[in-house]
Amino acid sequence: MASLCNPHFLITRLSLHLLVLIMTRHSAVTESAASIQLRGEVGGEVTFHCPVEKNQTLEFLYFQKGDTFVNGYHVSGNLPPTWENTRVDLDKMTILMYNLNVSHIGDYKCVIRYSGKTRVEPEILQHLNVTANYSRPTLKVHCSDANHHFSCLVTCTSHGGYPGSKVTWQIPGSFKVVNNSNMSDPDTTTFNISSIAFVNCSDGKLTSLNCSVGDVISEMFPLCKPKDPRDPRGPPVITTVAICAALVVSIMAALLGWWCHCKKGQRREPPAGRQENGFGEEETGLNEESS
Ligand SMILES: *[C@@H]1O[C@H](CO)[C@@H](O)[C@H](O)[C@H]1NC(C)=O
Ligand SMILES: *[C@@H]1O[C@H](CO)[C@@H](O)[C@H](O)[C@H]1NC(C)=O
Ligand SMILES: *[C@@H]1O[C@H](CO)[C@@H](O)[C@H](O)[C@H]1NC(C)=O
Ligand SMILES: *[C@@H]1O[C@H](CO)[C@@H](O)[C@H](O)[C@H]1NC(C)=O
Repeated sequence: MASLCNPHFLITRLSLHLLVLIMTRHSAVTESAASIQLRGEVGGEVTFHCPVEKNQTLEFLYFQKGDTFVNGYHVSGNLPPTWENTRVDLDKMTILMYNLNVSHIGDYKCVIRYSGKTRVEPEILQHLNVTANYSRPTLKVHCSDANHHFSCLVTCTSHGGYPGSKVTWQIPGSFKVVNNSNMSDPDTTTFNISSIAFVNCSDGKLTSLNCSVGDVISEMFPLCKPKDPRDPRGPPVITTVAICAALVVSIMAALLGWWCHCKKGQRREPPAGRQENGFGEEETGLNEESS
């Protein structure tokens, strides 16, 4: 406690505060000067330009991400380890960065000093943003006719995007989103997103729906179709159900026809004295008993 009142301690503290203040002000100034914005795509490449004056001799050029050395040049030829996905072009004074991924997002700067100078040149921050396009969303539909209430669960999926996003539904009429999921791929740090919508088709009206992620839209999908298998626009699920039903009905009809035919044949076949089938069996029993 006593040390807090020590004037020397106080002065040190004060000057530290001042230093921190000056440093934050300084970094605020340099950050506001970060007018250069670069964009890249995951897997793609981007080129940084370093403002090197052609009429001066370079002593060193350090291209850095924050304080981390990325690549560059030193007149002595000695350099720290460089990033594998970068190339320096000393003619154009550019740094090419390829195989971009999300981890490359950040602020970069060129630290430049010319031969015979004692101070480094003012730095200009270059902000790199890396994005990835989401795939065109695809729709999967599962319909059911449980309890005579025709309803469908529609799943919309899109993958490989960055940054995170959301599925948007375009469904005329009422629907309910029952699940939204957002999965990050540990290798690429891109996202797979999906959404499941529940559509009640009880009113039997045809609904056309689609989903979108950002400005990428899925195909249109007809849903809640009237149960008419002749309509070629019908969703495959309903058509399949209708075809199956038709098939079952025709098989049953055929069986029934065959059965009737057999019955008629049976009726004609038995010798005189035999009566209806049920009685015939009784007769046989009787016959067996009597014999
Ligand atoms: C990503 O989307 C943008 C804008 O739609 C397009 O210009 C770019 O070519 C797409 N990139 C890829 C890799 O498809
Ligand atoms: C949504 O679906 C995902 C993937 O199928 C699952 O992991 C998640 O638990 C579900 N969330 C809810 C709230 O049901
Ligand atoms: C994301 O989707 C892609 C393509 O469907 C798949 O290969 C990958 O395993 C998925 N990743 C995650 C984390 O679900
Ligand atoms: C669908 O809507 C009908 C009529 O509006 C209602 O009777 C039925 O319970 C609903 N079904 C479900 C699963 O919500």
